Amino acid sequence: MTIKFDGRVAIVTGAGGGLGRAYALELARRGARVVVNDLGGSRDGTGHSDAALAVVEEIKAAGGTAMSNGGSVTEYDHMVEMVAKAKADWGSVDILINNAGILRDKSFAKMEPADFDLVVQVHLLGSANVTKAVWDIMREQAYGRILMTASSTGLYGNFGQANYGAAKLGLAGLTKTLHLEGAKYNIRCNTIAPVAGTRMTEDIFPPELFEKFTPENVVPAALYLVSEDAPTNMIVGAGAGAFHAAYVTMTPGIALPEGERTPEGVAAAWDKIIDRKGETVPQSGAEQSMAVMKALQALG
Ligand code: NAI
Repeated sequence: MTIKFDGRVAIVTGAGGGLGRAYALELARRGARVVVNDLGGSRDGTGHSDAALAVVEEIKAAGGTAMSNGGSVTEYDHMVEMVAKAKADWGSVDILINNAGILRDKSFAKMEPADFDLVVQVHLLGSANVTKAVWDIMREQAYGRILMTASSTGLYGNFGQANYGAAKLGLAGLTKTLHLEGAKYNIRCNTIAPVAGTRMTEDIFPPELFEKFTPENVVPAALYLVSEDAPTNMIVGAGAGAFHAAYVTMTPGIALPEGERTPEGVAAAWDKIIDRKGETVPQSGAEQSMAVMKALQALG
C-alpha cells in the first residue's frame, strides 16, 4: 500500500535544513501542501536567514506546493498567524511535525541558566506553541497527526546535554498526554528519536558515519508516524535505516506491609522492586495507579 498525503496540509518546523527539509520534501512529493517553517538561525539559536524560502523553492521546482514561514516557534502569536494562513489558503492543517531545534551543549557545571532556558524554549515550549496553535483546528475537523522530536539524549541521557535532554524527554511526556486528549478527535501523537548527519551532528559523527546517517533514512519513520494509519503514543527511534521502539515501562514491584514501609524496608525489597520480570507499559497515569491499587489488594 502506497502512503500518500494528497489533500493533506502539513506544517514542518525547522524545515529549512537537515531532517525537517527531508520531511518537507518527501511530504510534498507524496501530495501534501507543506508549510516550511524555519527561523534560519545558527546551531546555537542566534541569527536568522531565508532557509525556509530555499526549501519552498526546491519543493516548487519538483512540482509540489509549499509556503514558507520564517518565524520562531518560540513566538506563539506568530505561530498562530502561520497556522491561520495555512488554514485560510489551503482549508485545513492535518499534520504537524515539531522538528525545530538548537544546541547549547556544555557540562551542567558550566551551563548558564540562559543556555538551559533557550534550549527548553525552542524545543519544548516551541513545540507546545505550534501544537496549541493547530489543536482546535484538528479537534474541529476530527483529524490530526502530530509528531514530536525527542532524542536519545532525552530518553537515555548524554554528557553535556542536560538542557537538551530535559527538553527532549519533556516532548515525549507532552505526547503521552496529548495522545489521550486527542484520541476522541482522531488526533494521533507520536514521538521520533532520530539520528542523522546534519549540521547538528557534523562535528560529532566521524565522516564515514555522517554519510550513512542521512536525513533521508529517518524520513520513512517520520512519514509513517504522520500518515492516515499512523499508530499513536509511540516513541520510535530511527537512523541509518534501522528502526526501533522505546517504551516507558513499569516493574510489578511489591507492596510493603505497613510495618515495613521504611527506608530500610525499601532497601531490603530493592531487588524485587526493580525486577523487570513481568513489567508492563502503562498507557496512562491512571493505569499506573490501578496497578498500584492491585498490588495493595494482593497484600490484603
Ligand atoms: P538542523 O540544525 O539541521 O535543523 C534544525 C532546524 O531548526 C534548523 O534549520 C534551524 O534553523 C531551525 N530552528 C532552530 N530554532 C528555531 C526556531 N526557534 N524556530 C524555527 N526554526 C528553528 O538539525 P537536525 O539534525 O535536522 O535537527 C532536527 C531535529 O531533530 C531537532 O529537534 C533535533 O534536536 C532533533 N534531533 C536530531 C538528531 C540528529 O542526529 N541530527 C538526534 C536527535 C534529535
